[in-house]
Amino acid sequence: MRELSLNILDIAQNSIAAGASLITIEIAENTQAGELTITVGDNGCGMTEEQLKNVLDPFFTTRTTRKVGMGIPLFKLAAEQTGGSLKIESEKGKGTTTSAVFKTDSIDFTPLGDVTSTVTILISMNTDRDFIYTRRLDGEGFELSTVQLREILEGVPLSEPEVVQWMKDYINEQTNILLGGVNQ
Ligand SMILES: Nc1ncnc2c1ncn2[C@@H]1O[C@H](COP(=O)(O)OP(=O)(O)OP(=O)(O)O)[C@@H](O)[C@H]1O
Ligand SMILES: [Mg+2]
Repeated sequence: MRELSLNILDIAQNSIAAGASLITIEIAENTQAGELTITVGDNGCGMTEEQLKNVLDPFFTTRTTRKVGMGIPLFKLAAEQTGGSLKIESEKGKGTTTSAVFKTDSIDFTPLGDVTSTVTILISMNTDRDFIYTRRLDGEGFELSTVQLREILEGVPLSEPEVVQWMKDYINEQTNILLGGVNQ
């Protein structure tokens, strides 16, 4: 079983490949509905209707290194295995939003895994892009925005080890407060 953080990494990498300057990642849990929703949005090149139709087919890809694109089909499978679903909205020249709903009570619900590392790796390896990471639980939540961080850092790169460590600590701390220190 793959951890969902790896799916998040895959989907965010699609946004980077699409030339997005801003990538949003949101994990929102609704305990009453027993649902966890992962949404990745970007302002990249987007897709035509034709591309969008084909995108859930693993034999469709604009990759040149190999013929099969698996990022989206795997994410879709992981969601559907729990009784959830995946939806993609995209407009050519505007951007793409991929959203997957997971039923958390399902025995096929895969753990999120190390989202903190996924987010900090994405940020520190792509300092030319902005990221907004949001985590919600019912009515509460927190966010980490590189747009805001950049203002505070006044030119210190987001890849600086101290900055990366601060981001990790911040996400871990806020996640623990949000989830009541029970699980990740
Ligand atoms: N955010 C996005 N913006 C624009 N096009 C996208 C986006 N996400 C996916 N696509 C298009 O859909 C195709 C399929 O994506 P998918 O992640 O399934 O496979 P891949 O990225 O091609 O290969 P892999 O993920 O296996 O490395 C991509 O090649 C790309 O053309
Ligand atoms: Mg991909």
